[in-house]
Amino acid sequence: MGLKNKLSLENKKNFNICVIGAGHVGLVVSAGLAKLGHRVVCVDNNRKKIALLKRLSLIFFEPGLESLVREGVKRGRLYFSYNLAEAIKNSEVIFIAVGTPPKEDGSVDLTSIENVCRVIAQNLNSYKVIIEKSTVPVHTGEKVKETISRYKKKNVTFDVVSNPEFLREGKAVYDFFNPSRIVLGVESQRAEKILRAIYKSLKTTILVSDINTAELIKHACNSFLATKLSFINAISRICDLAGADVERVAEGMGLDPRIGRDFLRAGVGFGGFCLPKDIDAFIHISKKLGYDFSLLKEVKKINQEQKSYFVEKIKEYLWVLKDKRIAVFGLSFKPGTDDMRFSPSIDIIESLVKEKALLFLYDPQAIGEAKKVFSGLATKKIKFFKEPYSAVKECDCLCILTEWEEFSRLNFKKIKFLMRYPLIADGRNFLDKEKLERLGFKYIGIGR
Ligand SMILES: NC(=O)c1ccc[n+]([C@@H]2O[C@H](COP(=O)([O-])OP(=O)(O)OC[C@H]3O[C@@H](n4cnc5c(N)ncnc54)[C@H](O)[C@@H]3O)[C@@H](O)[C@H]2O)c1
Repeated sequence: MGLKNKLSLENKKNFNICVIGAGHVGLVVSAGLAKLGHRVVCVDNNRKKIALLKRLSLIFFEPGLESLVREGVKRGRLYFSYNLAEAIKNSEVIFIAVGTPPKEDGSVDLTSIENVCRVIAQNLNSYKVIIEKSTVPVHTGEKVKETISRYKKKNVTFDVVSNPEFLREGKAVYDFFNPSRIVLGVESQRAEKILRAIYKSLKTTILVSDINTAELIKHACNSFLATKLSFINAISRICDLAGADVERVAEGMGLDPRIGRDFLRAGVGFGGFCLPKDIDAFIHISKKLGYDFSLLKEVKKINQEQKSYFVEKIKEYLWVLKDKRIAVFGLSFKPGTDDMRFSPSIDIIESLVKEKALLFLYDPQAIGEAKKVFSGLATKKIKFFKEPYSAVKECDCLCILTEWEEFSRLNFKKIKFLMRYPLIADGRNFLDKEKLERLGFKYIGIGR
């Protein structure tokens, strides 16, 4: 029976899969795997989220995701459930995609991972492959194995795989179907074969390693991307001091194929649920292992300074900010998402509120999330808008904090007419500086 099971699972094309966590990663992975032909149950311990998903209502914005979820459900390949025990029993493969938030000291809170491992163990009724999708510190795979082994019945076996996720919010659906690579940290040929079968129709390089290496690849990637961003932000400061243009510097650097243009965008710094927490985690992990990753500490410091530098630049023009009317366009940490987690807009808006400015906020998608984030602030000083032109009325400054494509198509003639003082602080260096100056705006960029 054991041998029969073993052979049949390895030779299957489509699998019964459980994805734990219906968040930005888990939901995309669930709907993506369903589209690849697998039968997927997506489980979350947030009852409200599952109830909404059962009604095909998504609680966050991600381009293309809603139709992918609808299609999966309609074809009978995608289900949502709150019942983790049952979902585990009925699955051959389990993806763990729960949150791994930062603790106060920068280390990773692995409580959710540990919790689901115990439930997996208690419901392990046959051989299953358990896959770490969440971003976790190196050696977490060992802890996952130990925990499941401790709580499971004696006669059932399992494999653990590390399969870090590289999707980008705002492009997550595209990234799922067009991954730059698939990393598989495996310990058994059987698990590797099953993972290769799951992803068979995705045409990309598959890199196979041990589990520790795969876990490390993810943190190394995000730390490197953050380093590139802080590097160009440091160059932007030098450009401001030297009277040079960081955009041209980045272009000149990026033309070198060893460097590349991606992630050489100067601005108010990086945010989101990945880079800030992952570099904190990597600093912490490295220290625990006995290495002081001081380079990453500097990366973090430069990123933090970029936000206060931007506010200082506005003050140079507006002098005292008390009662100055400032419109802020772009609140999510990047375009294409309503995710506000660790968005640079949070620190910048908090600084402006501290200076007693009056704020008029607009974002194409993130107003709902922003209202939750800023609910604790002096709300009389903050107003939210559903469209951009009402937000800029009588303003002394328009700040751009996220490079939503629609901002470049705004009618700036109209905006100039509506504003009290025509000042634009472009925290993403993405508007046409010359065009705005020709229209009579004063333009503040970063390093240009
Ligand atoms: N967001 C990204 O762009 C991205 C990209 C790559 C990797 N990651 C990593 O993927 C992981 C998930 O990130 P996310 O952005 O999807 O987080 P998220 O907060 O959007 O989603 C996590 C989900 O897990 C659920 N959850 C938490 N504990 C649970 C439990 N015990 N049982 C069942 N469900 C539980 C939460 O309710 C939530 O819906 C993190 O480790 C993150 O670092 C995120």
